[in-house]
Amino acid sequence: MPRILETRMLTPVTKYFRIDAPFIAASAQPGQFVMLRVRDGGERIPITIADYDRDAGTITIVVQDVGATTKRVCALGAGDEILDVAGPLGGKIEIAPGGHVCGVGGGFGSAALLCLMREFTARGDKTTAILGARSKDLLILADELRPLCHNVEICTDDGSAGFKGFVTQRLAQMIDGDGPGRPDHVVAIGPMAMMRAVAETTRGPGVKTLVSMDPLMVDGTGMCGGCRVNVAGKAQFACVDGPCFDAHQVDFDVAMRRNKAYVKEEKQALDRLTCMENREAR
Ligand SMILES: Cc1cc2nc3c(=O)[nH]c(=O)nc-3n(C[C@H](O)[C@H](O)[C@H](O)COP(=O)(O)OP(=O)(O)OC[C@H]3O[C@@H](n4cnc5c(N)ncnc54)[C@H](O)[C@@H]3O)c2cc1C
Ligand code: FES
Repeated sequence: MPRILETRMLTPVTKYFRIDAPFIAASAQPGQFVMLRVRDGGERIPITIADYDRDAGTITIVVQDVGATTKRVCALGAGDEILDVAGPLGGKIEIAPGGHVCGVGGGFGSAALLCLMREFTARGDKTTAILGARSKDLLILADELRPLCHNVEICTDDGSAGFKGFVTQRLAQMIDGDGPGRPDHVVAIGPMAMMRAVAETTRGPGVKTLVSMDPLMVDGTGMCGGCRVNVAGKAQFACVDGPCFDAHQVDFDVAMRRNKAYVKEEKQALDRLTCMENREAR
């Protein structure tokens, strides 16, 4: 079973893990994900491969505690083993070389920019990371990203660090030529509402944009149909056809509706876990 080598809290609800997983590290590419399972009979959840080190045989993931399973993952620490880590799954992010690539990250999505920026900088692209958060305390991995790309643009809603405003406002300024200048390609990874706003920002000026869709997944291998997203009017499975798609072709209305389909059951699962924890604490 893959062993956790290092963990640290990035925010009160976001945890960084470095995991010993040489077979996954050997073939991982930017944009891919793993399916994690932490207990027998438990659900599998998809988590992006934030980074990988082929020499050390390790992968990095960043998990935000939002429900029962992510809470169980975040309870693990260095030395613990994870029952299953399957991957790498999904397709890699494909962008023609030689241009200005701008990665836009929000929440745990900023973590996925680590390997993306490193790989694209190494092959000679100009690279900019735009990181957004509500406030300075919720920003993650800015210091780790600085050596991996040419520019890091920080945006906070309350102005406590960097540009005061949304990532889309800073992106619009860049498209108009400000700061690092107009990107040729944008890759947005983060909350669905943010990815949709990025798609609307780049649609008019015609900047090619990819979004990393995060629908509900069950198997992660194209068998259940749970991760269906509508792209250019066609049903696509995010786990095998994505998770990255042309942002201007994604039907975000349907995607956002589908992600809320099991809110009641998800709350029940979290309540059950909290009950169990309270019983054990007594
Ligand atoms: C390809 C892919 C990559 C992902 N990468 C990461 C990652 O690197 N780090 C990370 O923390 N999370 C990531 N996610 C989201 C993560 O899989 C979900 O947060 C997790 O499955 C929730 O499980 P849970 O049992 O803890 O919470 P649940 O009880 O299932 O859900 C709790 C809350 O989170 C919402 N939620 C559940 N699943 C998703 C989802 N897929 N997207 C958005 N909201 C969701 C629910 O609507 C609910 O409000 C990724 C998802 C996909 C599809
Ligand atoms: S998660 Fe089952 S088809 Fe994609």
